[in-house]
Amino acid sequence: MSLTPRPWRLEDRRHAKRCWWNWFEAKWQCANDCPTRREPGLEVGEGPAAPVKEKGVSAASSPSLDIQVLPEEVSEDADTMRHLADLINRVYAAAEKGQWLPGATRTSTEEITELAQAGQIVVARVDGAVVGAIRVRHLDSRTGETGMLAVDPEYRNLGIARELRRFVADLLRSQGIATLQIELLVPRDWDQASKKVMAGWNSRAGYKVVRKGAFEEQYPDLAPQLATPCDFIIYHKEL
Ligand SMILES: CC(C)(COP(=O)(O)OP(=O)(O)OC[C@H]1O[C@@H](n2cnc3c(N)ncnc32)[C@H](O)[C@@H]1OP(=O)(O)O)[C@@H](O)C(=O)NCCC(=O)NCCS
Repeated sequence: MSLTPRPWRLEDRRHAKRCWWNWFEAKWQCANDCPTRREPGLEVGEGPAAPVKEKGVSAASSPSLDIQVLPEEVSEDADTMRHLADLINRVYAAAEKGQWLPGATRTSTEEITELAQAGQIVVARVDGAVVGAIRVRHLDSRTGETGMLAVDPEYRNLGIARELRRFVADLLRSQGIATLQIELLVPRDWDQASKKVMAGWNSRAGYKVVRKGAFEEQYPDLAPQLATPCDFIIYHKEL
């Protein structure tokens, strides 16, 4: 299944920097009535947002965000599978620095290929290039789970992860799933900055902590790869 994304333009992002709504919604709601609406080029004050054109996209080219479940046939495209695995591993190596022993990786090309074959990988593309991903699956007939959320560091703070999560929540809801589960792996004895960001966002987004457990109890096979004791925090959100 592929939901049709809304078009995404650079000027919306600039405008949303001034708006109290999330910038995707702001685009639609502010088109007519928001007092902070400014035509591109007329902005004053804090200056323009960091240009996406650093990644080869100019304002004139109106970059577009596309989110979809990766079609199963893409699992046969070795380059895309490798690119996705590399992206997820690179992102998690930074976000979970110090939590894993050297050589441990979040995923592999083989695993991503299997998940794509199973229709469990959702990707975000900007102008066709994969810049983010999330895994989605059913745990039982009423519960879904998402994981492996990753956004390319050069495309952060643009709302891409929020849109990925919105997409999978809509998808699961349309499939009759009532509860969405996510997990957060945190060091037991110290604070990991990226995890604090996630915990804060989870809470703001309406996820409630339902359980906390030792990683080694839940994943005994992976525990020897940990560099530090870690806990899993399990969140639920009603869809
Ligand atoms: C977490 C991550 C997916 C966010 O991606 P993103 O596209 O930059 O996020 P968005 O722009 O959609 O923002 C999502 C929310 O996170 C907040 N956020 C994002 N980066 C932040 C930061 N550096 N500091 C504080 N808050 C931040 C945003 O304010 C937003 O919250 P809001 O909806 O309440 O306003 C990305 O940073 C990432 O890939 N991190 C490493 C992997 C990871 O931690 N995955 C989750 C593991 S459980």
